[in-house]
Amino acid sequence: MGVFTSTDDPGSTGHEQVVFCQDKQTGLKAIIGIYSTALGPALGGTRFYPYDSEEAALADVLDLSRGMAYKNALAGLDLGGGKAVIWGDPEQIKSEALLRAYGRFVESLGGRYYTACDVGTYVPDMDVIARETRYVTGRSVEHGGAGDSSILTAWGVFQGMRAAAEHVWGEPTLRGRRVGVTGLGKVGKYLVGHLLDDGAEVVASDVNPRALEWARTNHPQVTLVDDAALLVASDIDVYAPCALGGALNDETVPALRAKVVAGAANNQLAHSGIEKLLADRGILYAPDYVVNAGGVIQVADEIEGFNFERAKLRATRIYDTTREILELADAEGVPPAVAADRLAERRMAEVGRLRTIHLP
Ligand SMILES: NC(=O)c1ccc[n+]([C@@H]2O[C@H](COP(=O)([O-])OP(=O)(O)OC[C@H]3O[C@@H](n4cnc5c(N)ncnc54)[C@H](O)[C@@H]3O)[C@@H](O)[C@H]2O)c1
Repeated sequence: MGVFTSTDDPGSTGHEQVVFCQDKQTGLKAIIGIYSTALGPALGGTRFYPYDSEEAALADVLDLSRGMAYKNALAGLDLGGGKAVIWGDPEQIKSEALLRAYGRFVESLGGRYYTACDVGTYVPDMDVIARETRYVTGRSVEHGGAGDSSILTAWGVFQGMRAAAEHVWGEPTLRGRRVGVTGLGKVGKYLVGHLLDDGAEVVASDVNPRALEWARTNHPQVTLVDDAALLVASDIDVYAPCALGGALNDETVPALRAKVVAGAANNQLAHSGIEKLLADRGILYAPDYVVNAGGVIQVADEIEGFNFERAKLRATRIYDTTREILELADAEGVPPAVAADRLAERRMAEVGRLRTIHLP
């Protein structure tokens, strides 16, 4: 385990612990960021990505681990927030030995941090990491794991969208609404199914021809649009970004005709201030980290011994949490993203404080 070499100062970001890990033989360079353990062990995935620099990797892990603390708090989990990055090209350097070396570093934290999948890491990788550590989720079903987390991510997004629809139109349904989905990947595909079942009209776009082919074959009633910019500017009631981050930015928000935004993509707001721009245009934004928590709820359930029905019940509660946040936002006259942050901080402070009650 190494020492800080970056110019960034984690002390100024409020993180509890940031650990640099290196194993020269396998080429492993990883950073594990623990933002908060106020609610329990920190849970968050491992991103395996060819960052341009160590500074970029550190900035990402600091940002992502903080986000996980807020997401886990609002998901009602007894888990804190953490995240890890492995700096390198997974296509070039991912190996059994590298993943197992990483697993040993995770183990060395004694359960303060649980890992899971993220960009560049997959369920089979978690099975390899698990050969060195107990503190790993998102394992395969054969190993008692939760498997593909996009199933409950999509279910949770649908629940958050229902709550947003109720807030705007009075009924918790998408029936008769036109919903635009960008990104027909793992989550987008399941979401389209829920929307169609609910009676929504779906418009979708994807940059991958295979994803479009999937839609043509499985849901011919879905209208496909050439690119995301056209979809955003089209006559839709709800916009569901399910591709990459930054979907809500200075170009898209002024063009957006939807009254509601609720989607799976992480970090949808391109920069701070966008939430205000959305509110000023009368667009209700259901914060991404609230509505896309179904995946973390699914993998967190593994810690107790995975039970799909129990996890689904928890993910269904995203409907209630979204409602509560939208009501709080109205009551306090702030955008929903600000209300969500306040609610998460309140839970971390109130429940986290209980640990100061000494147990004999
Ligand atoms: N999978 C999960 O459990 C989970 C959980 C929480 C959040 N998320 C987030 O949800 C988003 C989608 O996740 P996923 O697992 O479905 O990923 P994925 O990679 O399976 O799917 C993303 C899809 O978006 C498409 N895409 C990329 N750029 C696009 C663009 N400019 N316009 C239209 N489509 C574009 C891709 O072709 C792909 O089909 C990501 O931002 C992810 O971080 C996923």
